[in-house]
Amino acid sequence: MQNLEKLKAELKALNAEYAKIKDVPAAERADFGKKLNIKKNDLLARIAEAENEALNVAAEPLDITAPTAANEPLPEFIKAENGSAHPLMTELDRVIEIYQLMGFDVVEPRQLDDEFHMFDSLNFAKEHPARDGYDTFRTEEGFIPPAHTSTMQHRVLKTFKRNLDEGKNIAVVVPGRVFRNEDVDATHEHTFYQCEGVYVSKDCTMGNMLGILREFFEKYYEQKLDISTQPGYFPFTEPSLEFKIEKPKSLGGKKGEFIEMLGCGMIHPNVLKMAGIDPTIYHGFAWGGGIDRLVMLRYGLKDVRFFESGKLNFLKEF
Ligand code: DAH
Repeated sequence: MQNLEKLKAELKALNAEYAKIKDVPAAERADFGKKLNIKKNDLLARIAEAENEALNVAAEPLDITAPTAANEPLPEFIKAENGSAHPLMTELDRVIEIYQLMGFDVVEPRQLDDEFHMFDSLNFAKEHPARDGYDTFRTEEGFIPPAHTSTMQHRVLKTFKRNLDEGKNIAVVVPGRVFRNEDVDATHEHTFYQCEGVYVSKDCTMGNMLGILREFFEKYYEQKLDISTQPGYFPFTEPSLEFKIEKPKSLGGKKGEFIEMLGCGMIHPNVLKMAGIDPTIYHGFAWGGGIDRLVMLRYGLKDVRFFESGKLNFLKEF
């Protein structure tokens, strides 16, 4: 730094020299000026170099716990602790692993979708009241934060149709975040997680579907479970079912106590057709259910709102 200031002082003095040019005899003037210019260029170069050095002063990397040079007291730091994975994410990983071990591929959905994938591709007729059952949010541009993971069915069918062409089946799950314009209470959230399953082959049956679902829930809750179904309605399946499991005994379930876990059914021929799959040759089944509910049951949680609350006391329990 000192060097830089000295050089700048020299430059100032040199600039004053230029004023003397007019007093120099005409014959010597050119020579005088030339010498000044050489000196000036040299000074300017040295100043540029010194400035550069000043910018690149190599300092030790900051160590916020080291004593300061003047040995002042360290600032009082705000206490912090390491975070951890959110319980829903840990459980979602378990869910995915169970399906993967059964041979399912995993596809990630998107958090902003469109009218076609939310409704039309799923055989919702225009203006049909079934659309009202999914009270979705919309962006000003008309995009839809998906109200269920079924928005991915069309993409899965189209993309994995190549499996069928190669003589293989389609077996895919889609775990993802979904959004509904709900009145929020202990059992309803505007933001939650679902896992969708799609299976297509030449000869699959509803019995296969119920077997896969039972296997999944038995693996997840690590015990034998009874299942039960009742007729349901979804435009994208025919027939459609509500699927229930016996409340696990280890979680206080009584004999004959069943809990609804998901919606499912045989994929509607129109849904297959729209994805370019011939429903006279291939059959499929699909299901979709909430992850939050699955996890709440496992841990005996009473309020779904904790998941999105960011409450540390809750999160620390996992
Ligand atoms: N998407 C439906 C819902 O969230 C659940 C569902 C029902 C998914 C039937 C499916 C299905 O794949 O086949 O209400």
